[in-house]
Amino acid sequence: MTEYSASAPGKFVILGEHAVVYGKPAIALAIDRRISVSVRRCGDLRVNGEAADPGSNPHMKHILDRHGMAGAAVRTDSRIPPGSGLGSSAALSAAFSSAVRGLNGMSQDPSEIAREAFEAEHYAQGRGSPMDTSASVHGKGVALNIPGGDALWDIDRDGRSWRVTGIEAPEMTFVVGYTGIRAATGPMVERVRRYKEGNGFAADVIDEIGSLTLDGMSRVLKNDVAGLGPLMTRNHRLLAILGVSCRELDKLVEASLPHSYGAKLTGSGGGGSMVALTDDPEGVCRAISARGGAPFVVRTGERGVSAGPPVR
Ligand code: MEV
Repeated sequence: MTEYSASAPGKFVILGEHAVVYGKPAIALAIDRRISVSVRRCGDLRVNGEAADPGSNPHMKHILDRHGMAGAAVRTDSRIPPGSGLGSSAALSAAFSSAVRGLNGMSQDPSEIAREAFEAEHYAQGRGSPMDTSASVHGKGVALNIPGGDALWDIDRDGRSWRVTGIEAPEMTFVVGYTGIRAATGPMVERVRRYKEGNGFAADVIDEIGSLTLDGMSRVLKNDVAGLGPLMTRNHRLLAILGVSCRELDKLVEASLPHSYGAKLTGSGGGGSMVALTDDPEGVCRAISARGGAPFVVRTGERGVSAGPPVR
């Protein structure tokens, strides 16, 4: 095999980001925006035709090292804006792992790819959870640390553990509002860690996010949008207390609420995107645009990592 391609979807988090880093429950859904990656053998690292510093591409470096490869010629094509809270980095790790494994004639076992992609994210971003990589690998939806269902995989790290189950989420319409502010996950996770160290009540906030996520799980499965929306909005306010919202995200969330069941930031925050659950996508898109955000409608139910170029 001289060249191998794979693609993986982005995701958004309905409930539970940041708290999941501490082993609390969370729910993420894959979206119909993918990154595709093709890999060929090469003595050094080349990305999209240019020589690339492996240190500036830590996900790729980590995966290449694991496979004993000094480099590769990589082509990427992404429809997931980077730093947008939509899992672009996790999707890159998942697709890159799948492509490198394919190039080396190794299995495409999703649990192996999920572990390898999580390790790459950990190397690149620091102390996160396997939520984003699991959503990209499995597709559709994933629940972390929610009882019931058959586990797809269990992942442990630094005394924390996550049981990942797959969920068949019904079709729901969400509007994403991108602030245009790129925000990396690692520093936001670190910010919550510091905040938790300095504020005793932060642990209560994290517990409350965990409880509302458990409550939200049955509502996701029943397509109870009227029950789910207020939990999302409450989750946003709790994330704001933890210090991971920002003025732009708050503005877009508030603007969306009159047209939606609920809205919240998604992902690590500090910029990136918010997401609104709505049956009036045009109204939400108009409200987001009027407040300076970039709206787009996302569909759930997307397939996970897959070999070959993406079907658009
Ligand atoms: C980022 O999409 C989600 C966080 O919970 C970090 C993580 O789970 O790794 C903020």
